[in-house]
Order: sequence, then structure tokens, then C-alpha cells
Amino acid sequence: MVTKGEGMMAADGVSSDVDQNQIDEANSAFWNELCGTQLAQSLGITDDSMESLRRFDAWYMDFYPYLETHIPFQSFSGQKVLEVGLGYGTVAQRIADSGAIYSGLDIAAGPVDMANRRLATTNAEGAAVCGSILDAPFPDAEFDYVVAIGSLHHTGALDRALCEVHRLLKPGGGATVMVYNAASYRQWALSPLKTLRRRWSDPARYVSHNEADERMRGAYDVNAAGAGAPQTEFVTRSELTYLTRDFASCDIVAENIGSESVLRFLPRPIACRLLGPYIGLDLYCRLVK
Ligand SMILES: C[S@@+](CC[C@H](N)C(=O)[O-])C[C@H]1O[C@@H](n2cnc3c(N)ncnc32)[C@H](O)[C@@H]1O
Repeated sequence: MVTKGEGMMAADGVSSDVDQNQIDEANSAFWNELCGTQLAQSLGITDDSMESLRRFDAWYMDFYPYLETHIPFQSFSGQKVLEVGLGYGTVAQRIADSGAIYSGLDIAAGPVDMANRRLATTNAEGAAVCGSILDAPFPDAEFDYVVAIGSLHHTGALDRALCEVHRLLKPGGGATVMVYNAASYRQWALSPLKTLRRRWSDPARYVSHNEADERMRGAYDVNAAGAGAPQTEFVTRSELTYLTRDFASCDIVAENIGSESVLRFLPRPIACRLLGPYIGLDLYCRLVK
């Protein structure tokens, strides 16, 4: 897979040598437990029957209704669409059901198996493969569209992942990329000074780096044992705009409010609508090559 990474300069100016192979191995082990496993358990889902998966998918699309706005499923029929980072496969299923020629890519075997089981069961066109978006096993300009929801910021090299997305797209092709917002309400609450510094830092100085703070990573993704994801990167809107400067266009919208602390008293759909665009947890980025 990927060889030893270059010396990286973190946003706080501290340089670190990171072995990309170690990051990939840690990611592959951590994400082999499908992202969404705990949700499935809380919904009482214990098998992979289509009925159970449809129930999971209905919950997921209801919880993230704005996915229908940010991913142009209705235009996918007959198009070659790559999804990066598959998790429980809800988006994979939705892309395949839209009539796209589906390709999936994930660093962990579990999500790849789940996506392939779904495709086989529904006789959909396409396949998922194991590999890293940092060194994607596809030729240049192969895809009409790339969808990467909550995955590129876990690779350890968001900047490189975005370059690969650009390489894989046909000229004029599009992408929907969701990454975590470094200036969301949660960042302000957990780490106000750091967030303030990030907010006013020069985006052109941004280089990919891991969030070292386990508490911060654990506030976003945890496995059944309670451990946070091994790699998580956060970006501001201006940093993301800078990182996607090779694309012809980039539109960013913030979404998603959690239910921690006082937020539990506000119905989530209202919180998402009122606060999401300003201090939402996630940045949805629509790109055109
Ligand atoms: C938080 S999950 C998101 C899954 C799904 N998109 C969703 O929204 O439910 C992140 C996914 O990205 C995958 N991933 C992490 N690093 C990757 C890499 N270098 N290349 C491809 N996939 C990667 C993980 O294995 C995991 O399935």
C-alpha cells in the first residue's frame, strides 16, 4: 500500500514523521468493526437480512436527511460512481439503487464485504474493493462522480486524499465530500483556544495532521470497546477551500448538530436547521473538476 509518509507539519507548527503503513493498519483494524454497528444494535438489528438492512438504512437517511440534498442520487443512472469509506453500506445501497455503475473502496475488509453482500442480494451493478484512497487502485479520470462521506479525514492525509479524488474524476466530474468542521460548536466547547487559533490561521499554511487528543477523537467516532478512531483530522471552511484549489468549483455547507449537554433539550431537526449552517459538526463540500 502506501510507503513511509513524508515529514508533516501540523497546523500548530510541530513537525512529525508519520508512517503511513502504520496508520493504514490501525485504520483497517479499527474500521473492520462496521461504522454503525452500535447503532444497529440499538435498533435491535442482529442480522444482515435485506429487511434488517432496509430498516437500518431508513433510520440512517432519516437521521441525515440532508444527504439527499448533497449527493445527487437522481443524476447517477448509468454513471460511474465511486464511494470511498463504506461503513454499514447505506449510501452504497442508495447509489446502487439509483442505477449507477457502483464502485466502492475501503481500507477495511468488513465494510467491503457488507457492500458486496448488498450488491449481490439486490443484483446491482458494481463491486467494492479493499484499498486506500491515498493510493486508489483505479486509473486517472475513471469516474463521473465520487462520494466520500466521513472518510477522507480518517486517512491521515486529507490533502493527499483530495488530490486522489481529483485524479480519479473525469474533467467536469463531480464529488461530494463530507469532513469534520474544525470550527463547529463542539470544537469551540472542547478546545476554545485551539479553535480560535485555527479560525484565524492562514489556510495556505495548512498541512494534514492527526488530532492527537483522544478525547476529541472519541467525541466523534468510537468502537464497541470505547476507543476513538486512530486518525481524525478537522478542517475549517477556508482550509478546505484551500485544499480543493485544483477543482474548478467548491461549495461548502455545514450540517449536523449532536445531542450532547443542553442540546438534548432542543429537537434535533430544529437544531440542525437553525444552527447547522453556522456551527454544524460536518462540512459538506460539492466539488467539480
Ligand atoms: C466514519 S466511517 C464512514 C462510513 C460511511 N461513509 C458512513 O457515513 O457511515 C469511515 C470509513 O472510512 C474508511 N477509511 C478510513 N481510511 C481509509 C482509507 N485510507 N481509504 C479508504 N477508506 C478509508 C473506514 O474504513 C470506514 O469504513
